[in-house]
Amino acid sequence: MKVLALNGSPRSEGMSKSKIMLNALVEGMRGAGAEVDVVDLREKKVRTCRGCMRCWTTSPGVCAIKDDMTAELFPKWLEADLAVYSFPLYHFTINADMKAFIERTLPVLQPFFISVGKETLHPLRYRHPRVAFLSVAGFPEHSVFDQLSSWVRFLYGRFGILTAEIYRPMAEGLTVPSLRHKASEVLDATRRAGGEIVEQGSVSEETLARITQDMHDDPRLFLKAGDLMWKTCIREGVTVRGFSEKGLVPRPDDPGEFMTLMQVAFMPEAARNMSAVIQFDFSGRHESSCSFVIDNGTIRAAEGAAESPGLTIRSDFDLWMDILCKRADGQQMFLENKYTALGDLDLLMRMKELFAG
Ligand SMILES: Cc1cc2nc3c(=O)[nH]c(=O)nc-3n(C[C@H](O)[C@H](O)[C@H](O)COP(=O)(O)O)c2cc1C
Repeated sequence: MKVLALNGSPRSEGMSKSKIMLNALVEGMRGAGAEVDVVDLREKKVRTCRGCMRCWTTSPGVCAIKDDMTAELFPKWLEADLAVYSFPLYHFTINADMKAFIERTLPVLQPFFISVGKETLHPLRYRHPRVAFLSVAGFPEHSVFDQLSSWVRFLYGRFGILTAEIYRPMAEGLTVPSLRHKASEVLDATRRAGGEIVEQGSVSEETLARITQDMHDDPRLFLKAGDLMWKTCIREGVTVRGFSEKGLVPRPDDPGEFMTLMQVAFMPEAARNMSAVIQFDFSGRHESSCSFVIDNGTIRAAEGAAESPGLTIRSDFDLWMDILCKRADGQQMFLENKYTALGDLDLLMRMKELFAG
């Protein structure tokens, strides 16, 4: 099987979540023996269709625009048995770069009108490759893909050339360290989907369910942590890319935000077979207590003091946020008695590992 796999994300490798998913799909396809050509549209010049209709009149089957689409991509697309369209969901539908590519496949059709039942269609001029859609979204609900899927089914599903629709919500979670375990399950399943497409011509319900599984019991925690990240980007004057390159940590403004961040940063694998209670007694701007109950890979946060904490950290709120955001050295601050830690100091030493996400 010859596959042309197109990624329409304007983001670079490493930053693009659709590309992370596409890479896994392609691995699975290659593993099953397919010959796959991967193209990042952001590296190509694909201008938008001008609507001149020359491809239907003066140069039948050939687009008049001289760019990478006409010279390279359209011929490759025609030769492919399967075209994979991979892109981020923008405004609840296909993003512009990918849509521009699809619009530029117009020369595959002839201009004439034919009626099939109650529908009007254009006949094909060339063989149309089968198509598979792979999209990712920021929001956690699967319903964000409903409009896209309805369009995809109308455009391709009716003609029996739609091989797969793979949609991953909350895709930004794919690179969140504390969700690493779930992300690798999703990517394994995406790899499997690639193999199934090549071997069976479709993706099984079971594999799709694994790809679209919830990455966390409480996605709202991640949305709140996302808000913290945006606030930090705005405050620090950095982009999302800059935030990630500088290794910044979202800075909580109050104990509630601190509790959210700690739960999102918690690494379940680091806390297997472990139970502990950590309490924070904050002074200064936010005088309050909160605690975290860790139990065999799970974490629960609560306001107020815990019954019998194994470790109690007493610190000025802003000082602890400075330590959390790597603005102050935790060990140094401890040695200088800027905060105190009572109880299990081994637990204090393990905090970085337990909250590495
Ligand atoms: C212009 C724009 C529009 C977006 N619209 C939506 C949207 O409607 N729904 C959604 O869930 N995410 C939306 N997102 C978020 C992206 O789909 C999400 O961040 C995705 O993971 C990006 O994929 P990429 O890393 O491959 O580019 C939008 C992002 C941008 C930049």
